[in-house]
Amino acid sequence: MDAVTVRPERGDDVDAIHDVVVRAFGRDDEMRLVARLRRDGDAAISLVAVVGRAVIGHVVLSPMSAPFRALGLAPLSVAPEHQKLGAGAALTRAAIASARQSEWAAIFVLGDPVYYVRFGFRADLANGFSSPYAGAHFMVLPLFDRLPAMTGRIDYAPAFNDLA
Ligand SMILES: CC(C)(COP(=O)(O)OP(=O)(O)OC[C@H]1O[C@@H](n2cnc3c(N)ncnc32)[C@H](O)[C@@H]1OP(=O)(O)O)[C@@H](O)C(=O)NCCC(=O)NCCS
Repeated sequence: MDAVTVRPERGDDVDAIHDVVVRAFGRDDEMRLVARLRRDGDAAISLVAVVGRAVIGHVVLSPMSAPFRALGLAPLSVAPEHQKLGAGAALTRAAIASARQSEWAAIFVLGDPVYYVRFGFRADLANGFSSPYAGAHFMVLPLFDRLPAMTGRIDYAPAFNDLA
């Protein structure tokens, strides 16, 4: 099988991305979230994982309301038949590199700590922030030496208000 490569989303990827997101989550909600983030101009970083010419994975990061320049990583999607082959990790690592290059201070994620801890995300550092998502699954990755603040109110982009 061809290797997985990661590149920025292009205009003609939209249908393939939506198909991957629906199949990864087994429902439409996250696909609608991706579409609204794009429509709102909040898809600050949007990357696809490609095998050959086929889009098999996608990740989007959107600006958060936070005490410093922070992105929220969500959703991360890999087509079921391509899961557990490293595409999710390749997307996450490329997203982190892109965010660092654009001088974002941190990335927040709501997800399984077992999966995200390998990239350096930490639930303990997210503890001090108040958010509807606070808890063991809410994590943050500082992109430089340390977080500019350890407390404050954190909110995802408005598109997330539509998510059940
Ligand atoms: C989560 C997801 C993006 C991972 O992508 P992937 O390409 O399968 O992941 P990778 O191949 O990079 O990593 C595989 C590793 O992650 C683990 N893993 C995969 N999905 C996991 C999950 N939901 N929870 C915990 N661990 C998970 C695998 O067991 C494997 O572990 P190992 O490296 O120790 O063997 C993919 O499974 C997916 O699209 N799931 C449905 C949508 C979803 O839940 N997205 C995340 C929330 S936003």
